Amino acid sequence: MLKNIKTYFPIFEKYPDLAYLDSAATTQRPKSVNEAINQFNSFENANIHRGVYDLSNSATKKFEQAREKVARYIGSSNPKTIAFTSGTTHSINIIAYSFLKSTLNKGDNIVITLLDHHANFIPWQMIAQEKGAELRVVPINKKGDLDITSLGKMLDEKTKILSLNHISNSLGTVNDIHEIIDLGHKKNIPVMIDAAQSVAYYDLDILTFNYDFLAFSGHKMFAPFGTGVLYVAEKWIKSITPYNYGGGIIKNVSAEETTFSDYPFNIEAGTPNISGVMGLSSAIDFINTFDKAEMRQHISDVTHYCIEQLSTINDVKIIGTPEKRSGIVSFVVKDIHPHDVASFLNQDNIAVRAGMHCTQPLLMYLETPATVRVSFSIYNDRQEVDRLKASLVALIKFWT
Ligand code: ALA
Repeated sequence: MLKNIKTYFPIFEKYPDLAYLDSAATTQRPKSVNEAINQFNSFENANIHRGVYDLSNSATKKFEQAREKVARYIGSSNPKTIAFTSGTTHSINIIAYSFLKSTLNKGDNIVITLLDHHANFIPWQMIAQEKGAELRVVPINKKGDLDITSLGKMLDEKTKILSLNHISNSLGTVNDIHEIIDLGHKKNIPVMIDAAQSVAYYDLDILTFNYDFLAFSGHKMFAPFGTGVLYVAEKWIKSITPYNYGGGIIKNVSAEETTFSDYPFNIEAGTPNISGVMGLSSAIDFINTFDKAEMRQHISDVTHYCIEQLSTINDVKIIGTPEKRSGIVSFVVKDIHPHDVASFLNQDNIAVRAGMHCTQPLLMYLETPATVRVSFSIYNDRQEVDRLKASLVALIKFWT
């Protein structure tokens, strides 16, 4: 199925020589997703949940069908567990501010990990500071895997939430969320999973994992920017209060008071990104045409080939050797600043990310101010890795 995969993506028609190695930042968009957005914008455009005319009713129906599709995608039988947000960051902020903050007290604690992205770090830090709670950060071992023993010890009766990513966007570590969610649940602690880097390639079936909250972004799963999802387990739905205020979230408004709809509608104030959600729905159809195990196998093959090839270059140091790795590899090249490396690669039409990858605490711990990061998706191949290697060798030669 992955044969000729590049032909699904218009960007590679326009730039056939582009080695796009930055899918952890955003995946490319398939033609079918662009067409779904265009179809809605051109021929089906109307606001939802507001009109009584046909176009609006039809838009509302498609939007709610998309909610059902997202629910099915993660194995939830209840579409009302799904809220549309602007992305993972928004979804995590909702749980911090609309779920946890009102019940968080001085002396409580929140547990996150050193592998977490700033989006799963700062919201918790802010409410912890505001409420006098403690933010506990689970350390990692030398390889870049979470220290599960420490994690277990950090969870106690004062822990109000455990929140962590499934896959580290910096090191590529795949966390054993099954085991970790069980650890949380044994102590009655709700667990939130940031699935931004995994949702396109992993089955995150709620029945298998039993997470309490799940957050992910559309744009890392072949859908447009500005779309995201929050899943809230049924048992917590009543605990979610409005996040921001406006139209579309109310039961009744008077000059004296307002009463609100239930989750998910109470956190979808204002007009949502309707055409984006059509794109997200189409992206799920696109993903569903593939076998996820085959996707992961392909990405893993390219990733391991990349590690093998980079390891042959003396001046390249790979950062992190996790037990289980996704399609993400971070490295440094001699004393050359990662931004210079990325600029040099760009001249050879190789797109990579350089910097701290929104994981400053992690990089500080690793005593590495910045890294070059390559991240693979289904459209990458070994030839692109060969080009990456050749370009790095040329850079090192040029620099010395
Ligand atoms: N979080 C995205 C990344 O890791 C933007 O690049």
